[in-house]
Amino acid sequence: MSKHFPIVIGHRGAAGEAPENTLGSFALALKQGAEGIELDVHLTKDGKIAVCHDPTLDRTTNGSGLICEKSWSEIEFLDAGSWFSEAYAGERIPLLSEVFELVPKGMLINVEVKNAYEGRMEKALLAFLHEVKRFDDVVVSSFDHKVIQGLKRAEPELKVGLLFGANFIEPVAYAKLLEVEVYSLHPHHRSFDQADMSLARTDGLAVYPYTVNEISDYQRMIIAGVTGIITDFPGRLKTYLDT
Ligand code: G3P
Ligand code: CA
Repeated sequence: MSKHFPIVIGHRGAAGEAPENTLGSFALALKQGAEGIELDVHLTKDGKIAVCHDPTLDRTTNGSGLICEKSWSEIEFLDAGSWFSEAYAGERIPLLSEVFELVPKGMLINVEVKNAYEGRMEKALLAFLHEVKRFDDVVVSSFDHKVIQGLKRAEPELKVGLLFGANFIEPVAYAKLLEVEVYSLHPHHRSFDQADMSLARTDGLAVYPYTVNEISDYQRMIIAGVTGIITDFPGRLKTYLDT
């Protein structure tokens, strides 16, 4: 993992400039110099880990219905790019394994679990990570902290992160209540400040605020001293950090 801070983490790839959670979006984030990517996962009916933000196909593909009610063969050829721009027609929903093949080792992959699917997602995800032997550069996060607690208990080697909504206060104190080792906090950038950061640093926690897109907010997060910034515009953030 990169050693300079904050690292640039492309939200759903480079979601501001390419169709979110597609290989094209992740490739653009890498091209723009991102040191990490964030993505969202759901489970298909036949147990494949599909990379998509919504539980349904309707918003970002030419299909419809719940991902968990479809088999992978019903999803794999859907168009996940045209809704964003004709230039991306033909982009597909990737499997998690395809994203891991694209992203070089050493870059952070932040996998956000959107739904536990009654424990099936945890099992599938851990089996996949064991298969590809990639624990060092992976952080699994979720708004569902029971999922995070369960994953960490099942696999102590896994790095886990807690996602917090916009009105959450005292994330550092809260993290201790889970009684598992938390690697990172993923707060909404508007409810996180320098005081929180000092507490996080004392506890050795990485902090990856989301979804930070404006220069003034980049500045605020950098001053606070965060570890990484999750942004829809990795190129914009990279340029800002480099100037
Ligand atoms: O992981 C940070 C951020 O992606 C959480 O919100 O809705 O964009 O998945 P959302
Ligand atoms: Ca997400």
